This record gives sequence, C-alpha cells and structure tokens, in this order.
Amino acid sequence: MGDGRTLLAADDVSLTLAAGSRTAVVGASGSGKSTLLHLVGGLDRPDAGTISVFGEEITELGAKALADFRSGVGFVFQQFHLIPALSLLDNVAAPLIGRAGAARRRARAAEMLEAVGLVDRASALPSQLSGGQQQRVAIARALVVEPKLLLADEPTGNLDSVTAAEILDLIARVHAEFATTVLLATHDPEVAASCDAQVHVSDGRVTGISGGV
Ligand SMILES: Nc1ncnc2c1ncn2[C@@H]1O[C@H](COP(=O)(O)OP(=O)(O)OP(=O)(O)O)[C@@H](O)[C@H]1O
Ligand SMILES: [Mg+2]
Repeated sequence: MGDGRTLLAADDVSLTLAAGSRTAVVGASGSGKSTLLHLVGGLDRPDAGTISVFGEEITELGAKALADFRSGVGFVFQQFHLIPALSLLDNVAAPLIGRAGAARRRARAAEMLEAVGLVDRASALPSQLSGGQQQRVAIARALVVEPKLLLADEPTGNLDSVTAAEILDLIARVHAEFATTVLLATHDPEVAASCDAQVHVSDGRVTGISGGV
C-alpha cells in the first residue's frame, strides 16, 4: 500500500469455473472483485499460485504470449477505458486490428453498436456520451471478438433497469451462441441471480459459492 503494509486483495482463493458457465462475483466495495477479474484476464499477476484458463496456465506465460491470450478475452472495465481520441466505431473495431481487414472491422463494429443501440452515434467521441452509453460501447467492444471468455466488471452499474436488462440479454445471447464463459462482478442481486453461480468474496477471500459452478 506504499506505507510498508501489505494488503492481500485476493488471498488464498481457490476457484474452478466450468467452461461455458456464467458466474457472478459479488461482495462489498473493496472486497476484491475487480482484482479477481484482472487476475483471470492476465492483467494482474498473482504473487503466488497459478491460474489456468481453458487449460493454459497463464501464470507461466511471458509478456508476448500473455498479450496474445488477452487479445482473445473480452473485457468490460469498471471505468470503461474507451480510447478518448477514437470514434465509437473505431473504439469497438480496435480489438479486431490484426484479425480482420478495415472494411470487415467497420462492418462488425457497426453490428455491435447496433446491438447496444448506439449505431446512430458511431462517429461520436466517448466524451460526448453519458456514462451508461459509454458502458454500452465498452460492452460492444468486449463482444466484438466473440470471446471465449468475457470478464465484465459491473457491466450494468451505470444503466437504468430497462437498458440493464437489454445488456444482460445481449450477454445471454452471446453466451448461448458462442458458449462464452462469463465472469462478471456486480452489486446488483438481479444480475447475480441471472448467472448460473455466485461467488461471494470478502476481504480478498472467497466466503461462499451458491448455484453450480
Ligand atoms: N493498485 C492498488 N494498490 C493498492 N491497493 C489496491 C490497488 N488496487 C486495489 N487495491 C485494494 O485492493 C482491494 C480490492 O480492490 P478491488 O478493486 O478488487 O475491489 P472491488 O471488490 O472491485 O471494489 P468495488 O466494488 O468498489 O469496485 C481494496 O482494498 C483496494 O483498495
Ligand atoms: Mg471493482
């Protein structure tokens, strides 16, 4: 923590998620939900222990291999992290760079913006959007690669209940179509209940699991 003390943001966690399942991570603010998602997605490295995703031990990977792994994961960040200088279309198309030609990237990005109800704002900049709209763009960007693994940090946290239901429906459709494994952090009991399983965390530890993981 910068003052000589150590905070264990994820401590003694042992967890197995079934491929193709949808799991919610629930817990109070500061309990370690984002940390857990960042570890699984290879954004943070644990000081000890191993993490394997689809049989690949990501804790063993070097920087290049880890970057390749991450490029196949769909991330929705709690703070969105859209690229400010790029239009919505270019933000959503960005994960496809190196995977598809420019025309295909734009077409796929437009499809995803359509799915989140923002295709008419495709040329706008992120700063011209509301928080909830930015969140929908972030979800479109996460889903554009048809990820095998979707990590979504409070994906409906800034949305009204109708839009939240639409986003959950979109995630459910992607899950059904591509057998996407979904791990999402949420404070919303309804969102948690829409998942197959709920992992409860407190002070960096898993305190309980409900549903079938
Ligand atoms: N870079 C960091 N340096 C020091 N402590 C950190 C850092 N990032 C997170 N933490 C601490 O780790 C703990 C877990 O944080 P985390 O962001 O995972 O919580 P969270 O469950 O996602 O909370 P919220 O619901 O508010 O998003 C918190 O105590 C937080 O202060
Ligand atoms: Mg968080």
